[in-house]
Amino acid sequence: MTKPEAKGRIEKLKKLIDKYRYQYHVLNKLEISEEALDSLKHELKKLEDEFPELITLDSPTQRVAGKPLKEFKKVKHQTKMMSLEDVFSEEEFSEWLTRIKKLAPRDVFHFYAEPKFDGLALSIVYEDGVLKYAATRGDGEVGEDVTQNVRTIESVPLRIDAKGRVEARGEAIITKKNFEAINRKQKKKGGQIYANSRNLAAGSLRQLDPKITASRRLDFFAYDLLGVALEKHSEEHNALRDLGFKTGDDLEERRKDAGEVFKHYKKIAERREKLAYNIDGIVVSVDGNGLFKKLGTVGKTPRGAIAFKFSPKETTTKVEDIIVQVGRTGALTPVAVLRPVEIGGVTVSRATLHNEDEIKRLGIKVGDSVIVGRAGDVIPDVRKVLKELRTGHEKEFHMPKHCHVCNHEIKKAHGDIIAYCVNKNCPARHRENLYHFVSRKAFNVDGLGPKILDAFLDNGLIQDAADIFELKEGDIALLERFGEKSAENLVEAIKDAKKIPLARFIYALGILHVGEETAVDLANHFGSLEKLGKAGLEDLEKIPNVGEVVAKSAYDWFRDDHNKNFLRKLLKYVHIEKPALGRSASGGKPGKLAGKTFVFTGELESMSRDEAKAKVRDLGGDPSETVSKNTDYIVAGENPGSKYDKAKKLGVKIIDEKAFLKLI
Ligand code: IVH
Repeated sequence: MTKPEAKGRIEKLKKLIDKYRYQYHVLNKLEISEEALDSLKHELKKLEDEFPELITLDSPTQRVAGKPLKEFKKVKHQTKMMSLEDVFSEEEFSEWLTRIKKLAPRDVFHFYAEPKFDGLALSIVYEDGVLKYAATRGDGEVGEDVTQNVRTIESVPLRIDAKGRVEARGEAIITKKNFEAINRKQKKKGGQIYANSRNLAAGSLRQLDPKITASRRLDFFAYDLLGVALEKHSEEHNALRDLGFKTGDDLEERRKDAGEVFKHYKKIAERREKLAYNIDGIVVSVDGNGLFKKLGTVGKTPRGAIAFKFSPKETTTKVEDIIVQVGRTGALTPVAVLRPVEIGGVTVSRATLHNEDEIKRLGIKVGDSVIVGRAGDVIPDVRKVLKELRTGHEKEFHMPKHCHVCNHEIKKAHGDIIAYCVNKNCPARHRENLYHFVSRKAFNVDGLGPKILDAFLDNGLIQDAADIFELKEGDIALLERFGEKSAENLVEAIKDAKKIPLARFIYALGILHVGEETAVDLANHFGSLEKLGKAGLEDLEKIPNVGEVVAKSAYDWFRDDHNKNFLRKLLKYVHIEKPALGRSASGGKPGKLAGKTFVFTGELESMSRDEAKAKVRDLGGDPSETVSKNTDYIVAGENPGSKYDKAKKLGVKIIDEKAFLKLI
């Protein structure tokens, strides 16, 4: 066929194929047989192979996204897609190894360890280098044809340098960043919110409209290559890379020793949070395809590979009790005492239930089975009560009417969801206040935490925070777990903490509603503790960011006899540093960010949030914790939280870290 003849034929073929393709894939009623359509496609493909310069983007052979489908076609996998046995500990891993060695005692082999991507398994089949089809795992034998959708994944090559039938298997995933962004969008338009990135990846691939899939910007990591005769799994990974696939790269390792595999597991576990995408463990295989085959399968899993999983981020456990904690402000927090479980690598035995409303919302009872996770991957929280597992012996919980520590009355202001022990001298409040006094953002006494403070209190070494400055090495060295040296260090740390900036001093006092930012505002406005102590209610209310409630709380604090005595005693030991001038609020020379309020959400890359806040303060701006319509900027870092949504709702200007750095 001459080139002009081929051109005419190709044009006609493309139109006809597209008509039938539409009938077939979109309307699901093909007028001709599948074989006949394949034959037309084959002819077109052959012509395009012969005259590659005639390939156009609109050719069905190049199609990236088509019209929405009615349903997915089923695809039978030529080779079954298996799953893996999970192990969760080094012990279980060793048991796996023992089993293998028993079955193949004379085989010498290496391990191949790679990340276990948390997404959806895909099989992508290429014929003579052209992406032929892609399918989900399904039940392992028959999956769904998601070719159109897979073609929208940029990291999947549409053409590879290979002959015959080659199958790449791997995982379609969605990055953490995309997951957050998509859920935000879904929330805004009232759409479905996805519980995790795996569900979102699966949901995105199983969209009948490939345009939706394309908008989700999926990614693909390959981990298996079929149809190329190679001896080792590691060679398959190399070949996959050479063919243009994304693989686990530096998260992969070929190792001889099981000990080294553990090390790799631990290293990856540590890097896990920082990765752009979710992984839930590592996959360890014997690095020899002959041995892999020889070891055979048990049910749907091969003996030659296992999934060495990280401890889960969510798990189930039992509520053994619900107790109430008294905070330094007197706020009562119900806490679930859990049967200890490991979540994300740490053992968890308590989870805050926040308040009575949350208890009602969850419907939680003592004895319930619950799902617990760690909010922001840190703070344990109860996510769901599994009411179906109730036995009838669960006990309802009611907030107490009296403080269990001092027996004083509990009060809950109208409209407030928090209940308070109103006894200012409640020992529990006193203890919490002490913890607060020495904490990082207050007096920041190195090495002095709740446990040691408890020991000081319980041994009668201190009555209040001021007494800490009276402690001598001899007093401390007598306590359990203390030696002369550690006592000496602690006394030194206490001495170092005596010099303190005014804002931190105010914060350390633990005045109700006076947080870190308000303390800075008060320090800058009044410039000295004396002036703050004498300030009238109106003076306090005049300060920007200080409302009626905060003003009243600070005013009352300085007029309370108990507090007055405590201050008098404390001031004998500490040296308060006056705030530097230069802050707009203090009337000093205004900085670059004078009068501007900033709220930070999410993780910043170049500095911590505390550092960023300090920068804002230095430049005369106001860092704040809460978003309001008066906020000038919200700086959104990685994985921003609910403040981001609130800012959007209020129309507050949202900037990223780069823009923030430019501003400062
Ligand atoms: S190998 C022989 N490697 O884990 C089984 N699987 O429970 C072939 N997965 O369905 C799987 N990352 O979706 C393998 N690097 C990796 C993987 C991986 C994620 C998933 C895959 C599979 C499941 C096994």
